[in-house]
Amino acid sequence: MSYDVIVIGSGPGGYVAAIRCAQLGLKTACVEGRETLGGTCLNVGCIPSKALLHASHQLHEAQNNFSKMGLNSEKISVDWNKMQDYKKEVIEGNTKGIEFLFKKNKIDWIKGWATIPSIGNVKVNDQTYETKNIIIASGSEPSSLPGVEIDEKIIVSSTGALELKEIPKRMVIIGAGVIGLELGSVYSRLGSEVTVLEYMDYITPGLDSELQKTFQRILKKQGIKFIMGAAVQSVAGNKNNANVLYHKNSDGSEHSIAADIVLVATGRKPFIDGMGIKELGIKVSEQGHIETDNKWKTSVNGIYAIGDAIQGPMLAHKAEDEGIATAEIIAGKHGHVNYALVPGVIYTSPEVATVGKTEDELKSSEKDYKVGKFMFLGNGRAKANFAADGFVKILADTKTDRILGAHIIGPAAGDLIHELCMAMEFGAAAQDVALTCHAHPTYSEAIREAALACGDGSIHA
Ligand code: NAI
Repeated sequence: MSYDVIVIGSGPGGYVAAIRCAQLGLKTACVEGRETLGGTCLNVGCIPSKALLHASHQLHEAQNNFSKMGLNSEKISVDWNKMQDYKKEVIEGNTKGIEFLFKKNKIDWIKGWATIPSIGNVKVNDQTYETKNIIIASGSEPSSLPGVEIDEKIIVSSTGALELKEIPKRMVIIGAGVIGLELGSVYSRLGSEVTVLEYMDYITPGLDSELQKTFQRILKKQGIKFIMGAAVQSVAGNKNNANVLYHKNSDGSEHSIAADIVLVATGRKPFIDGMGIKELGIKVSEQGHIETDNKWKTSVNGIYAIGDAIQGPMLAHKAEDEGIATAEIIAGKHGHVNYALVPGVIYTSPEVATVGKTEDELKSSEKDYKVGKFMFLGNGRAKANFAADGFVKILADTKTDRILGAHIIGPAAGDLIHELCMAMEFGAAAQDVALTCHAHPTYSEAIREAALACGDGSIHA
């Protein structure tokens, strides 16, 4: 059997690449070893975590805000098994959706784990398929710490944390990154006592530092405990619980903390073993990423790589964009990804969303910039919805007014950010956003107000 393109991996990078290849008239197959399509994101990542975030957010609303609106219900309780069933249904709906899209686009799903025995060949379960091009979209896997062995029962990665047998009483999370804080929010809302141990003195490395501070303050108010400057040394687990040993960076003192569940959320690493990549001579960086040029070509002709397997932020939408661009390049078109404008979103409550330069980056680049900031407290819709914590911050060039970065912490931030992504794609000035009519009452008025604050001032502040 022979193809124009075989994509290895069916996560957001791989399945999107396969669909675009097929749409562009290329005979396409996608190899996936899991039982279902969709990769980490749909099966054990973005989608199931969003289901649990949604359910636990509803619980939080019911417990904290329903009575304020005159909605009196009996004491609400959590049926953990039912919540797990809901999560499974959400996963199934999404993974089956990809299966449908594959059929619709006449993409062959080759079931099994792929190896690349030689250029132009992909082998799956003793069957070898010929192909003109290969796109490696094999994703990433959790990376642990030395001295910490993940058993996915007591000491878990995000995968295990999504399907715990019961809601733990005490959960310790190692790492205050995106995974730690999203899943920490879920379990904190469900009643667990959540403590986050973080090596740095701030949470979510890379985020604008003003957002980091506000975000941490809000999470603390929600009941999450933080131990900062804590370097985890080891975790000793048994059948029922675990003990986490850490050093305080400030004075080297040794401490320990007991937990029923320990979530290790200290980052992910490319998942590229077992395909024969090194044997083929495909260059791999010291950090374990497949190296590519700016057209996603590896060092071996006819083999491309995208998504978490290569450098850059490990984000589903970055992988999707690379998938589309690579398909277009293989079809002889001009694929392009604007890495400067890849948004980042943290799906806690409130949400955190960011695009472009942070204020810290602008300060260190000595660029003349101005800040337009608007608090959601001045937004009528946010106040009505008990969601007035947070702000929109727009950073613009002092001379040209061009928007350089945008940072939001507040309701629906993950959706709101796209107005600013779009504005920045078109090279907009803050005034362009300020002059755009925004419907009232909406959260997006806060964006316009922040843009107004870059000029003569916002109205409701
Ligand atoms: P991360 O890199 O975002 O955060 C890891 C944290 O662990 C850092 O703050 C780091 O300082 C800390 N840490 C490392 N070693 C430590 C030690 N020995 N003791 C204490 N703290 C330590 O990694 P995370 O949260 O695991 O996420 C992995 C990847 O998945 C990221 O690239 C993230 O962007 C992506 N992801 C994105 C999501 C989203 O876009 N909403 C959701 C989930 C994951």
